[in-house]
Amino acid sequence: MKKDFISIHDLTLYEFHEIMDLAAAIKKDPDKFHKALKHRVLAMIFQKPSLRTRMTFEVGMLELGGSAIYLSPADSQVGTRETLYDIGKNLERWVDGIMIRTFAHQNILDLAASVRIPVINGLSDLLHPCQAMADFFTLKEKKGGLSGIKLAWVGDGNNVCHSLLFAAAKAGCQMAVATPRGYEPRPEIVQQAKEDGQKSGFSVTLTDDPRLAAENADAVYTDVWASMGQEAEKETRARIFAPYQVNASLMALAKEDALFMHCLPAHRGDEVTDEVIDSPRSVVFDQAENRLHLQKAIMVLLMGKKEKHG
Ligand code: CP
Ligand code: NVA
Repeated sequence: MKKDFISIHDLTLYEFHEIMDLAAAIKKDPDKFHKALKHRVLAMIFQKPSLRTRMTFEVGMLELGGSAIYLSPADSQVGTRETLYDIGKNLERWVDGIMIRTFAHQNILDLAASVRIPVINGLSDLLHPCQAMADFFTLKEKKGGLSGIKLAWVGDGNNVCHSLLFAAAKAGCQMAVATPRGYEPRPEIVQQAKEDGQKSGFSVTLTDDPRLAAENADAVYTDVWASMGQEAEKETRARIFAPYQVNASLMALAKEDALFMHCLPAHRGDEVTDEVIDSPRSVVFDQAENRLHLQKAIMVLLMGKKEKHG
């Protein structure tokens, strides 16, 4: 049976650690894997813009001996020129895997159910699992382990926050989420994470006070206040989220060696100050680098066995 990578919630604990461990091996000795996906091809459907996701999947496929083909929003015109179902049924005849970045999460579930090749979630309005895996890989590298660490999320309870909750549940971390009222992570995601993390030592607290979340944290994470697709809400959100800026005085509440994290792109001067994002505590470019190693591991595990046209 083909496997997809759609949500960290779907992974067994074994699979979660298998991806992390393989990513570490690939990062340590990338040349050893230079033929792991020889002649395999990944199609990448983008309905939203990207720098990191496109680059890391494309470079990742090249470094594994395969290649990736970028389908821009204009090329794919999902739902206008052709249905996503028809696009998928074409692609599965030619390529070995599909990465998709889209709006409605249901699009990814529907695509995965219709094709015989692996589907990878490159971000939906609900989740961003590749990002959260790379972030936990980064945390593990920097902190030497994951169990028991406190991760503070400050800002919008969005797709990245949701995937971090699922990763924290697997890793046994404490997560403190500070959002304005009405912008909390979805209750069903929080509930699912709690169920996933029952035995791992995971805990989650929700608050509207960024200072409470940042207190004694090992890492403080933020993201843009208006995600892709929410451009029309930009000004309203800027007003509501202003007290949630991650600045030096907020970072001062966290542990002395606390990291600053951001999935990028960042809106400097809004959700984070230059002083914080450019400080030695900031690991934002390590996070971006680790997207590459992590996604290479995911692709090797999903696309490493040739079952094309089966
Ligand atoms: N963090 C992230 O996914 O970046 P892009 O939107 O540039 O791909
Ligand atoms: N929450 C952001 C993440 C970008 C990588 C968005 O969805 O636009």
